[in-house]
Amino acid sequence: MRSSDSSIAGLHARRVWDSRGNPTVEVEVATESGEIGRAIAPAGVSRGTREAIDLRDGGDVLGGLGVGRAVLNVQKLIAPELIGVDATDQEAVDEAIIALDHSALKARLGGNSTVAVSLAVMNAAAAAKGVPVWQHCAELSGATPSLPLPEIQIFGGGAHAGRRVDIQDFMIMVPGASSFDEALEITSEVYRAAGSLMSQKGALAGVADEGGWWPVFNHNEEALETLIRAIELAGEKPGDRVVISLDVAASEFGSKGKYRLALEDRELGREEMIRLLGRWIDDYAIASIEDPLAEDDKEGMRAFTQEFGRRVQIIGDDYLVTNTALLEEAITDEACNAVLIKVNQVGTVSEALDCLKVARKAGLGTIVSARSGETEDVSISHMAVGFGAQQIKVGSFSRSERMAKWNECLRIGDRIGQDTFVSGKPLASTDWARNIREGAC
Ligand code: PGA
Ligand code: ZN
Repeated sequence: MRSSDSSIAGLHARRVWDSRGNPTVEVEVATESGEIGRAIAPAGVSRGTREAIDLRDGGDVLGGLGVGRAVLNVQKLIAPELIGVDATDQEAVDEAIIALDHSALKARLGGNSTVAVSLAVMNAAAAAKGVPVWQHCAELSGATPSLPLPEIQIFGGGAHAGRRVDIQDFMIMVPGASSFDEALEITSEVYRAAGSLMSQKGALAGVADEGGWWPVFNHNEEALETLIRAIELAGEKPGDRVVISLDVAASEFGSKGKYRLALEDRELGREEMIRLLGRWIDDYAIASIEDPLAEDDKEGMRAFTQEFGRRVQIIGDDYLVTNTALLEEAITDEACNAVLIKVNQVGTVSEALDCLKVARKAGLGTIVSARSGETEDVSISHMAVGFGAQQIKVGSFSRSERMAKWNECLRIGDRIGQDTFVSGKPLASTDWARNIREGAC
């Protein structure tokens, strides 16, 4: 059988380094037509227990984080299966990868190997077709390309800041912005204002893993209060154009219905945790909360969504790990109303896209997200646009592994037009979006 021009001619894997200085896997895919697609696996540290395994070498070298085995898996196991497969047929590529590893968590190959290959093929396919990656993504997904609403961290916390505060991400969104560019400009003002507030009180101590200010606070509420003041100092009214969003990442400090707030040295039961977050929703212009309860606390997620799901967006990250089966269960359970899509949680582009499509069909919000360990790779900016995701989350507004993704969205915006900016528009049917627009939260 003759290969078409977009058939895969070769794969090459190498060790490169991520934003924490840790080793990670880069893959280059060459097509018969001579085009190259490249991608790098990201890495999370606040990981769900049900996400694809990040295959590491263990031992003493590099703190056990070596990726020698993962690189070898690409060269020896995956490459032979993919030579000759059409790169534009992402499903066939991903099926071939999955056929090599039927373990639940891609333990044989490693999710870091599979995601780098899957993304590199996606990028190679776009090159072979002679179209931008976002356009190829739109063709894969059947969606109309759009510029997503950015969700941007101002203070880091949790596992990304030595557990200096319990809550992991203190973020803002600007659903009232008229363009992606304006959303970034307003975010920049808030980020700058937050930095000067920290400086004024002698609490400026650099940044956390995703570029948000290091959280020198005595309690979690102090971070929220400072964020409100930063929004005001930037000339905005909290809850008007700018809203707060949190990633509680509750699995990091809670299990079996108990939540240990280390900063305040107290343990909360499920009900108390829900009450605490409810108070924050009332007091701090919060429009979105990710993983409010732990991944093993279905009862808590259901109760929280029952009570607050009409007022705020409730995102499952560790709770869903971009897994379609878990998402379908959560839809039945009404345990959240939005899903975070991280390709490396599930290990292939096709599986992540499937999860996003199921969420969209069920009317859930969709947020394409980076990991805390990132690189110059901008594949997710293209996926967020081409898959028609409503939001994009890639950390803060500093450090180039983050800014590369925001800047890539700006470049794509010049091609597809700022009028494709999602802002609050497709979220308009939900009460929480109405609350945002009417300044009721
Ligand atoms: P991680 O965290 O990339 O460190 O796992 C990101 C998140 O929880 O959203
Ligand atoms: Zn999260």
